[in-house]
Amino acid sequence: MKGDSEESIESIRPSNLQAFANMSTLHGMSHIFAYGHMTFRRFLWTLSFLGSLALLMLVCMDRVSYYFEYPHVTKLDEVAAPNLTFPAVTFCNLNEFRFSKITRNDLYHVGELLALLNSNYQIANTHLAEPEVLAALKDKANFLNFKPKQFNMTDFYNRTGHDISDMLLQCTFRGSECYPWNFSTIYTRYGKCYTFNSGLDGNPLLTTLKGGTGNGLEIMLDIQQDEYLPVWGETDETSYEAGIKVQIHSQDEPPFIDQLGFGVAPGFQTFVSCQQQLLQYLPPPWGDCKSTPIDSEFFSTYSITACRIDCETRYLVENCNCRMVHMPGTSMVCTPEQYKDCADPALDFLVEKDNDYCVCETPCNMIRYGKELSMVKIPSKASAKYLAKKFNKTEQYIGENVLVLDIFFEALNYEKIEQKKAYEIAGLLGDIGGQMGLFIGASVLTILEIFDYLYEVFKDKVLGYFMRKKRPQLSHTALVCSSALHYKRNNTM
Ligand SMILES: *[C@@H]1O[C@H](CO)[C@@H](O)[C@H](O)[C@H]1NC(C)=O
Ligand SMILES: *[C@@H]1O[C@H](CO)[C@@H](O)[C@H](O)[C@H]1NC(C)=O
Ligand SMILES: *[C@@H]1O[C@H](CO)[C@@H](O)[C@H](O)[C@H]1NC(C)=O
Ligand SMILES: *[C@@H]1O[C@H](CO)[C@@H](O)[C@H](O)[C@H]1NC(C)=O
Ligand SMILES: *[C@@H]1O[C@H](CO)[C@@H](O)[C@H](O)[C@H]1NC(C)=O
Repeated sequence: MKGDSEESIESIRPSNLQAFANMSTLHGMSHIFAYGHMTFRRFLWTLSFLGSLALLMLVCMDRVSYYFEYPHVTKLDEVAAPNLTFPAVTFCNLNEFRFSKITRNDLYHVGELLALLNSNYQIANTHLAEPEVLAALKDKANFLNFKPKQFNMTDFYNRTGHDISDMLLQCTFRGSECYPWNFSTIYTRYGKCYTFNSGLDGNPLLTTLKGGTGNGLEIMLDIQQDEYLPVWGETDETSYEAGIKVQIHSQDEPPFIDQLGFGVAPGFQTFVSCQQQLLQYLPPPWGDCKSTPIDSEFFSTYSITACRIDCETRYLVENCNCRMVHMPGTSMVCTPEQYKDCADPALDFLVEKDNDYCVCETPCNMIRYGKELSMVKIPSKASAKYLAKKFNKTEQYIGENVLVLDIFFEALNYEKIEQKKAYEIAGLLGDIGGQMGLFIGASVLTILEIFDYLYEVFKDKVLGYFMRKKRPQLSHTALVCSSALHYKRNNTM
C-alpha cells in the first residue's frame, strides 16, 4: 500500500481519480471513489449510481426512439382576415354540344361517337326520337352526294359548346353587374366551361370584405335544354342529367370538375356558403406531403388536380398517341374515332380502375373551400309570369331551364389546419437533460469535466512514457531515480 508522502504527491496530480471524484459535480462520484477501504456504504453508493445510470439509459433510449418516430400534431386555428380573395368558380353545362350547332359535316364525323348514327352513317334509334328532333336530324344525316370536309375536334368543341352570352341571364358580384367577358373559357371533360375570377383574363383577383350573400357572386343561368343532344346510347360525351356542374377552387389549381364538381339543378336557387381552409402538411419524415417542385411540362404550381391532369395526359399520349381537347400540351388532338376506340375507354380505366399509374401526393400547402348547400324553388308560382315576360320565354321554359347560383363566404375568417412537429431536437435535449439531472445530477459541463479528466489521464500516461524514455540519456542518477520510482510504483499499485 501507498505511503503517506506518496499519496499527497499523487493527490495533487489532476489525473488522480479520487481527487477528481471529490471535485466532480456528478453526484455520487465522491462517495464511490472515496479515499480509504472499500466499505459496504461505498458498495451501496456504487450500486445506486449504476442503477440510476441504467434507468437514465432506458429513459433516454425511449426519448430518442420517440424522436425518430417523427411524431406530429395537428393544430386548428380560426383566423380573422380583413378581406378574403374570392375563389375561382368554374361551371359547365352537363350537355357538351348544342344540337342546333351541329352541321352535316360534324354529324358525319362524330355521329357514331355521340351514338346518333350507327357505323353505316344511318340514324340509330328512330323510334326514340321526338318528331321535330328526328326531322332535324334526318335533314342533317342526309349524306347523299355529300363530300366530307376536314374536321377539327378542338374547333368542334369550341363551336358547339354552350355559349356564355346565351346562358348568362344575370350576374352580380358584390352588387355590381358582371358580364360574359368576366368569365374565361376553359375546356374540361365536360367540354366548354367558364371560370369566374380565374385571374387569367388580366383583371386582378376579386376580394370580399364581408360575409353573406350580398358580398358574393350571384348568377342566373339558362341551361338551354332545347339544345341538349338526344341521348340514344351510353357514351362518355352525353349525359342523362340536366343542369350544371360547379367547382369552387383556388386560382392556383386547374378545375377537375368531372371528379370534384357539385351539381346544381334547374328550377332551383342554390346557396353555397363557403369557408376557406388553409391546410399545411409536413414533408417526410413527419408527414407525407410533396415538398419537391412539380415535374410537369404543363403546370408550374403543384396541386393534386394538376398532377392528375398531367398524369392523365401522359397516359393518353402514351397509349393513344393523342390528347383530348381539354388536356394541355402540344400533341395531336384525338380524332372522333380515337376518342371512341381508345381515349374514352383508356381514361375511364385510368380514373376508375388503375390505382398505380396516377398516384398524386398531397401538396404541403393547399387551399380548400368547405361548402354548405341549400336550395329554394325558382320561379315561385307568383313570379313565374313576371320572369317569363322578362326573359321572353314561356313559363314552362323558365321552370325547366333557369337556375340561380349564389356563392359567398360565410364569414370573413378562414380555418388554418396545420400539422406541426410534435417533438423537435430542442425538446429531445431538454428531456435528456432533465433525466440526466434527475438520475445522476449531470449536465453538459459534467460531461466536459469527465473529458477533461480523461485528457489529463491520457496526457499523464503518454507524457510519462516519453519522459521515462528520454531521461536515461540525460544523466545516470536520473535513470536510477526514475527506474527506482518506476519499480516502486509498479509494486505499490
Ligand atoms: C386585403 O388585406 C390585405 C392585408 O391583409 C391588404 O394588404 C389589402 O390591401 C386588402 N385588399 C383590399 C382590397 O382591401
Ligand atoms: C384545329 O383548330 C384549332 C383552332 O380552332 C387550331 O389551333 C388547330 O391547329 C386546328 N387543328 C387542325 C388539325 O387543323
Ligand atoms: C372559338 O370560337 C370563337 C368564335 O366563335 C373564336 O373567336 C375563338 O378563337 C375560338 N377558340 C378556339 C380555341 O378555337
Ligand atoms: C368585368 O370586366 C370588366 C372589363 O374587363 C372589368 O372592368 C370589371 O371590373 C369586371 N367585373 C368583375 C365583377 O369582375
Ligand atoms: C320573344 O321571342 C320570340 C321568339 O321566341 C320572338 O319572336 C320575339 O320577337 C321576342 N320578343 C322580344 C320582345 O324580344
